Amino acid sequence: MTTFHDGVMNHPQAILELLTRKGALAYAGEGISQIEHAWQCGQLARAAGASQSLQLASWLHDLGHLMGEPEGTPTLQGVDDRHEHRGATLLEAVWGPGVAEPVRLHVQAKRYLVAIQPGYLERLSPDSVRSLALQGGAMGPQECLAFQSAPYALDAQKLRAWDEAGKRPQWFARDVPHAVNELRALMDLVHFLPA
Ligand SMILES: [Fe+2]
Ligand SMILES: [Fe+2]
Repeated sequence: MTTFHDGVMNHPQAILELLTRKGALAYAGEGISQIEHAWQCGQLARAAGASQSLQLASWLHDLGHLMGEPEGTPTLQGVDDRHEHRGATLLEAVWGPGVAEPVRLHVQAKRYLVAIQPGYLERLSPDSVRSLALQGGAMGPQECLAFQSAPYALDAQKLRAWDEAGKRPQWFARDVPHAVNELRALMDLVHFLPA
């Protein structure tokens, strides 16, 4: 197995342990915790009838935020933490592209949707607007064409919609152990690529 940042190993159990240790951290700038956001995105994906792989991607799309030592709100410090790439690289090794690629593309999906959907920008949370600027802003026409033809671009757009919607402070939130148990049950259903 390969050791990643923060001692994370390419194994589902190590990912669950990372969420157990850091899930209660604030989802920077959004008023909810990391595990609440992950849980809400997972629920929205399941309610929409997403495949188990895409449900898992929805749960884990922001894993990269937990793979370093986040301090405060990176976007307020003018930092793009490139969390989508860190998370996707780890997930690729564990479950392959069906989980990893929607995660890798979820930031690009925001840049794409802002470019093609009138009113999309206005619906973003303040932190998503700040990060959008750091991530390159709305895509230009050529970038949009390239994005549309990328494998998993549609899954990434679905994930992005759940990402925007899964930031509700008032939504019923599990505590960390309950949420991690739900996630473990889902992981058991998705084919694992042993190292
Ligand atoms: Fe994200
Ligand atoms: Fe997110």
